[in-house]
Amino acid sequence: MRDWLRSILLPAEGTSYAGSVDSLFFFLFYMGVFFFLLIAGLLTYFLIRYRRRGPDDRTPYIVKNHKLEVVWTLIPLSLVIFIFFWGFHTYMDAAVSPGDAMEIRVTARKWVWEFEYPNGIRSLNELHVPLNKPVKLLMTSEDVIHSFYVPTFRIKQDVLPNTYTQLWFTAKEPGMHRLFCAEYCGTSHSDMLGRIFVDDEKTYNEWLETGGDEGKDMPLAEFGAMLFKSRGCNTCHTIDGTRGEGPSFRGVFGSQVKLQDGSTVLADENYIRESILRPQAKIVAGYQPIMPTFEGMLREREINALVEFIKAQR
Ligand code: CUA
Repeated sequence: MRDWLRSILLPAEGTSYAGSVDSLFFFLFYMGVFFFLLIAGLLTYFLIRYRRRGPDDRTPYIVKNHKLEVVWTLIPLSLVIFIFFWGFHTYMDAAVSPGDAMEIRVTARKWVWEFEYPNGIRSLNELHVPLNKPVKLLMTSEDVIHSFYVPTFRIKQDVLPNTYTQLWFTAKEPGMHRLFCAEYCGTSHSDMLGRIFVDDEKTYNEWLETGGDEGKDMPLAEFGAMLFKSRGCNTCHTIDGTRGEGPSFRGVFGSQVKLQDGSTVLADENYIRESILRPQAKIVAGYQPIMPTFEGMLREREINALVEFIKAQR
């Protein structure tokens, strides 16, 4: 009964913390169901039992009943006190990270998640964490308020500019978990998605060493198409010619691009490379200088792949 309801109401439990949140949730849920049935049931029963039976039928006028008042005060009072301590305990579990937790830095910006690991490796929109090990996220934003939300982990925390906020968890469910931005942060807020991979120790260490050597067996343009999505380029750039926050990639390669200062530039490989790594260097006429820099965030092969992908959009 419980697991059936759980699967309908709530996503899978990716952390041990998720289990304690769900227990509290179900306690509140079943308490609500119990009191709903009790009150609605008594209401219906009293309606019939004490209905007016004739013109002279009067109910007795009762002024007070101390015993009843004490009972209906003490029962709810003890219930809410019990819920408060349970909830407080669960909250403190989430708020205080264990001392041995591994720290990962999270930087949010419109509209990507950036992760930096203890060894200096960085990744975008893709967080890799070891199974059954406490991980602490130290988070900040480069622009507006975002919110780090992983439903299967039952964790959610605002990510603020000029401040660090933190979260911690111990992942216990291997595989992929979805990360959402849960604070409206502009045009592509709903595309500000990420994936969290919970790896066993071996896979995790391999990933840390290679920095996630993904796409190593893929042709460049195909790898680039993958990066176009996973690195969040597609939140601002389209490939079908429609206008986004940034220029579309359709037909851009080899064309003469008009810049904000009135000059034009040939869109060759070097122009595209520069626009990825130092987007503020040349702003296309009619667009805002809002693209974040990707300098130091992409490896050489990833840059090549993106250039190759953009070249293919003719
Ligand atoms: Cu970032 Cu919504």
